[in-house]
Amino acid sequence: MAAILEKNVQKYIDSMLPARDAVLREMERYAAKHEVPIVGPACARVLFQLARSIKAQRIFELGSAIGYSTLWLARAVGPKGTVFYTDSDPENAERAKGYLGRAGVLNRVRILVGDALKMLQSTEGEFDLIFNDVNKTQYPEVFRLAAPRLRSGGLLVTDNVLWSGRVAKVAGAKDASTRAIQQFNRQLYRSTDFFTTIIPLRDGLAVALKNSAIS
Ligand SMILES: C[S@@+](CC[C@H](N)C(=O)[O-])C[C@H]1O[C@@H](n2cnc3c(N)ncnc32)[C@H](O)[C@@H]1O
Repeated sequence: MAAILEKNVQKYIDSMLPARDAVLREMERYAAKHEVPIVGPACARVLFQLARSIKAQRIFELGSAIGYSTLWLARAVGPKGTVFYTDSDPENAERAKGYLGRAGVLNRVRILVGDALKMLQSTEGEFDLIFNDVNKTQYPEVFRLAAPRLRSGGLLVTDNVLWSGRVAKVAGAKDASTRAIQQFNRQLYRSTDFFTTIIPLRDGLAVALKNSAIS
């Protein structure tokens, strides 16, 4: 993944991050060794901050892998909150269970294995925050399914919306992922139901607040 920020700026931001606990550090090491594309600590802190800012208690995550972002979100909701973990890979889910258990938050996480979009549809109720990190070609469909499931004042947060800068190549992107992310970003910014900002941290994080039209 090509960095969006200049290398020395990214390095500076990383140098400011407080040390993580043993479980998060182990997950970061595992992800680096096995090339699991986790959000990493700088973006995970944004997730935590956003969830805390809106006092999120019910979070749905689409694409959770080994549970790194899940752990940050589970800590953000606190002991009474719930985070729905989803991944299509049962091995990821088993590994995530181990980490989340050791971190003492497994009882606030529902582990769902299978297609994240289908599981969003089959899970009842509204969410305070939906974190989208699935296959990039699915992003336009995620917008369609996730938007109505958020409460007013809820947040749709999405990773990789700058896709190593490929989205900025204006005319005729050839690969399906770039085209889908471009479409998703247009959906977010054009929607009158959302107020959206792309934070150019790591690979780009889109933060879309529901029902906050300027009046
Ligand atoms: C980028 S990784 C998630 C990283 C995680 N959010 C984190 O930051 O720690 C994407 C994960 O989503 C899973 N995935 C992709 N599309 C999916 C889908 N439609 N349903 C379920 N899982 C999916 C992949 O198996 C992969 O583990």
